[in-house]
Amino acid sequence: MSFLDQIEPLKQAALADLRAAADLAALEQAKGNWMGTHGQVTALMKQLGALPKAEKPAAGKAINAAKAELDAALADRRSALELQAARPEAPTDFTSPGRRRFVGKLHPLTQVTEDIIRSFRKIGFVVADGPEVEDDYHCFDALNTPADHPARDTQDTFYVTAGQGTVSAGDTGSPAPGPAGQTPSLLLRTHTSSVQIRVMEKQPPPVRIIVPGRVYRRDNADATHNPTFQQIEGLYVDRGVTVGDLKGTVEFVFKEVLGGDVKIRFRPHYFSYTEPSYEIDFASALTRKMGKDWLEIAGCGMVHPQVFENVGYDPEVWTGWAFGFGIERIAMIRYGINDIRLFYENDVRFLRQF
Ligand code: DAH
Repeated sequence: MSFLDQIEPLKQAALADLRAAADLAALEQAKGNWMGTHGQVTALMKQLGALPKAEKPAAGKAINAAKAELDAALADRRSALELQAARPEAPTDFTSPGRRRFVGKLHPLTQVTEDIIRSFRKIGFVVADGPEVEDDYHCFDALNTPADHPARDTQDTFYVTAGQGTVSAGDTGSPAPGPAGQTPSLLLRTHTSSVQIRVMEKQPPPVRIIVPGRVYRRDNADATHNPTFQQIEGLYVDRGVTVGDLKGTVEFVFKEVLGGDVKIRFRPHYFSYTEPSYEIDFASALTRKMGKDWLEIAGCGMVHPQVFENVGYDPEVWTGWAFGFGIERIAMIRYGINDIRLFYENDVRFLRQF
């Protein structure tokens, strides 16, 4: 068969093959078979050189035209197949509901704190506030804590200044000099009990406050300790206040926050600012889930007469109780969290679960 006669059938076969390619891989395969190094069209083009000189121009023109047609067919098929590959497998359902964007939420500690506050508000408590950078008078002395108490040690407390120089105002409130008139040491408050003193110094009884806030201790972080954590302090001062009021109040709030099956028990303990003092244990389905009958959750007691003296309340007239508990502890029990550090890592995979 002459060179020219071979072109048309070869082209037709190649076109049919390219157009029949079902996907991009098959198209590449077909392209190789016809137009690749060892392809049949390529092979025919190679024969061009061997033709007699007179036949070359016409033959060259014809084979080039065929090649151009094949290139165009290849490009057409490729774009059709690419479009097909990009199309979604399932048709879009325009009636399905939209995807909701995650907009963030309150930190679990904030949620628990707000629940506790809401509960205390129902029974007439108001929220009070005080400085986190505190002086040692309000954190310890006024709370009847002796100078040699271990909590006051630099091993346990972050001191900012060591009882010398002047104290600048700013957000530290106004640290009052200690009773002896010395310049106070400044520290990061180790508990919210200091706010009891600040509130009683400012207002006459009766007092009914809760104090949520951050506290600091020189603890190494582990599953149950963190150098900063949150507490809620409570203080109730009036005439004729009893431990019965204390127990009833604590029971009411814990039932609201941790479930109606909560049981409360008081165990004798020691705090320098209360007498008598107790630790509060509670029991519920949640503690049983943790394998415990009772779980210690707070400290409390009847305000020590010396504390009333320190703020100028007459202990013969006024009685009161106070308590303090850690918010992380409550949140950990409530949500079944086993490591306090999770609250402070700010990992959204953790936070978005609450
Ligand atoms: N301040 C104590 C603590 O940090 C908790 C506490 C105990 C607070 C007894 C009180 C109280 O008000 O009366 O461990």
